[in-house]
Amino acid sequence: MTNQPTRKNIIPESLVPRLGEQLVEMGLITAEQLSQSLGYQHQCGERGRQIPLGQAIMELGFLDRPTLDQAVAEQILRLRSALEDANHNLELRVQQRTLELEEALRRLSDSNKLKSNFIANISHELRTPLTHIRGYLDLLNAGTFGEMNPDQKKAVSLSLQGSLRLQSLIDDLILFSQSQRGQMTLSIGPVDLNKLARNMQIRYKKRAAENQLTIDIKVDPNIPTVQADEEKISWVIAQLLSNAIKFNKPGGKISLMMMRDRATNNMVNVYVADTGIGISQDQIKEIFEPFVQIDGSSTRRYGGTGLGLALVLQIIEAHGSIINVKSEVDKGTTVSFPLLITKGE
Ligand SMILES: Nc1ncnc2c1ncn2[C@@H]1O[C@H](COP(=O)(O)OP(=O)(O)O)[C@@H](O)[C@H]1O
Ligand SMILES: [Mg+2]
Repeated sequence: MTNQPTRKNIIPESLVPRLGEQLVEMGLITAEQLSQSLGYQHQCGERGRQIPLGQAIMELGFLDRPTLDQAVAEQILRLRSALEDANHNLELRVQQRTLELEEALRRLSDSNKLKSNFIANISHELRTPLTHIRGYLDLLNAGTFGEMNPDQKKAVSLSLQGSLRLQSLIDDLILFSQSQRGQMTLSIGPVDLNKLARNMQIRYKKRAAENQLTIDIKVDPNIPTVQADEEKISWVIAQLLSNAIKFNKPGGKISLMMMRDRATNNMVNVYVADTGIGISQDQIKEIFEPFVQIDGSSTRRYGGTGLGLALVLQIIEAHGSIINVKSEVDKGTTVSFPLLITKGE
């Protein structure tokens, strides 16, 4: 047995901290009587008889039971009211912190809104002059203003390429700011995947060849149409193919495959695969964050903003679908997602 209250021997006095000093403060015993009582309690303890301090005080005749009980009860009431005050203060502090956090959240979302408004405005402002630049470059390139010598032709062709890159960058930024503001709308309809795949082949054949890559397209000629936003899904596949080209190695391969899902039979799986540099397992999640780019050297070499996959994810999720990445460093990457087949096909 010890002086410490256990579950079994909890008595009211054990709930009052520093009971002896409290009794002195209340003027019920003197400091001298307290030290005598403590001494007596200690002696009893040494003889194997553990007693509470109150008991020692009573045995020495300094206080009777009713006075002691009354004093203990008063102290417990005081403690309870102090505890209630503390609780109340705590509640007030929690309320205040909650208000502060709400305010911080509101400011954050305001500043996010400002940021995406800024991106939207600046992108639109950039788009207008760029349209003029491209228009005139197209006319020059087509020889509308007269024949050009080979140097002039080369200069115009390079400027045209640059302006195309700028345009696609601005388009990405506009799409990103729309998706940030929850303004991404889909116009869903039946999409002919064979046509889409042919367009992709035309669009990427040259770039793949320039990077010494072969591009392989596999789509079942009888593939059913899927329910999707044609423009946005084309954009997604274009982004994935562009990554497959960017993060590849000379002599490598990229493929676009679309096939009916055998398990469910109501979906088509779209795969974009490459034999490139790959992504390590722990980095796979990060690449879908806006502005994240892993390999500094290849992104510097090929450009990009790190926005592509963040938007790809938003678009695929807006379709109610999910995106899947399988990758092995130095072996290659396969990104895939399912799309719902149009009913009745
Ligand atoms: N097919 C891929 N193979 C290897 N790494 C990739 C591939 N696709 C994306 N990544 C990595 O993910 C990052 C983010 O991709 P993305 O959002 O398209 O941005 P960006 O193409 O502008 O760099 C890339 O910078 C690259 O590090
Ligand atoms: Mg990209």
